Amino acid sequence: MNRLLRSSYILLVSGFCSAVAAQNGTFLGMPPWQQASLWPDRIIQNLSADPAHEIAINWRTDSTVPSTIAQIAPSAADARFDAQAATVIANTEPLYLNTAMVDGVAMAAPDNFGLGVVHYHSAVFTSLQPDTLYAYRVQGADGAWSEWIQTRTAPTAGPVKFAYFGDAQNGILSHWSRVVRAAFTKAPDARFFLHAGDLVNRGARDFEWAEWFKAGSFVHASIPAVTVVGNHEVQPYGFKERRSERVLSHLWRPQFNLPQEEALPVNLQETVYDIRYNRDIHLFVLNSLSGDSESQANWLDSELTSSDARWKFVTFHYPIFSSAGERDSTDRRDLLLPILQKHSVDLVLQGHDHTYARGAIGQSPERLALGQDSQVDVMFVNSVSGAKMYELKSDGWDSYADYGVTLQKAAENTQFYQIITVDGARLTYEAYTADDQLYDYFEMVKGNSGSKSLSAGARQTLDARRFSNTADYTNAPPL
Ligand SMILES: [Fe+2]
Repeated sequence: MNRLLRSSYILLVSGFCSAVAAQNGTFLGMPPWQQASLWPDRIIQNLSADPAHEIAINWRTDSTVPSTIAQIAPSAADARFDAQAATVIANTEPLYLNTAMVDGVAMAAPDNFGLGVVHYHSAVFTSLQPDTLYAYRVQGADGAWSEWIQTRTAPTAGPVKFAYFGDAQNGILSHWSRVVRAAFTKAPDARFFLHAGDLVNRGARDFEWAEWFKAGSFVHASIPAVTVVGNHEVQPYGFKERRSERVLSHLWRPQFNLPQEEALPVNLQETVYDIRYNRDIHLFVLNSLSGDSESQANWLDSELTSSDARWKFVTFHYPIFSSAGERDSTDRRDLLLPILQKHSVDLVLQGHDHTYARGAIGQSPERLALGQDSQVDVMFVNSVSGAKMYELKSDGWDSYADYGVTLQKAAENTQFYQIITVDGARLTYEAYTADDQLYDYFEMVKGNSGSKSLSAGARQTLDARRFSNTADYTNAPPL
């Protein structure tokens, strides 16, 4: 087969792969929830850089909607609370699904063969009041409105709860949907949902994002999302000879409305950012895939130095301490761990290893086992929310003993969501299985000097889950 024919063949096959969702060979066509229309869909709220006073939103239509608007009003008991709604004009950008611009060169995105251009719209509502319930709606074509979506701005202080998810990635609609919905049911008052990378398996594949948006549905629109880039959000555009040159999916920036960190190089913006959520909480998001780790590390060090928040959380995709197979990320650990320790970051929230592992530097497992409090420095979590599962490293984190880290709880073959609650000087952490059983739990309390005390708490948690004591995984039907 000559090169042109081979290319056409690959395009045809992979294109049909993305459009045909049939396992039995029946042609099903594109599912309706993937098709853009005059009506707004894929509505998502992201945390802006000032979440007490702003709400950042993003949505999609087909390309016949050249411009549109969104509206917001304070929520009220009155049926017609919307009479005084304020209107903002959206920013609209076209997205050519089957073509990505890479360094100014148009590259084929064969996963989206047969798909054309869609329009993404974004807006930021500003000058809002803190900790206030608002209702907003977005429009597609003239008169094609979404429902009114209620959401609450950030409080300047007081208790804050949020959810954290490891990789969704596979079986997103079929298997991840139950996890994100369980988290919403458990914590409908969560202030944001944090997705620590690998939200989908092929980041340039529109069909998979269609599943991710459908799985979260109105939850994505109601609770702001913090999205982190994983290795499956970068793509080898073109064919085999360019596979090493992976770049961020061309869907990432159009479909989210993330803070833009002007101090960082353009290629890192909307993938590396910080959010000072309120007086107590400062969240830092890194991009494990940029190849520009030095800039990020310097930025993180500088931002942590100047932050006076009581609680500092850092999230990125590749774990500092791996918990699966032969994976390790030595260079990134050497670069980032000294910074995390220098600033005694409270929680590092990660994904990638398709296992659960939670442990800390500076803790005493012996004291915790006796029900006593322990000192702690930096706490690390690797988690997974989707259905793809790996085996735990056989020696846990023992090979990392030189770093002073100890593994406190681990799991295989289990989908998780985590609920983290900050209330002044106290942080509580809960890891739940998809069927809402408490699997892991701890409390952390900050002293005035910044010292941290860790407690295992008195709550009952599940025994360790492994492939050896859970249902058959390898013989399950394909995702
Ligand atoms: Fe990953």
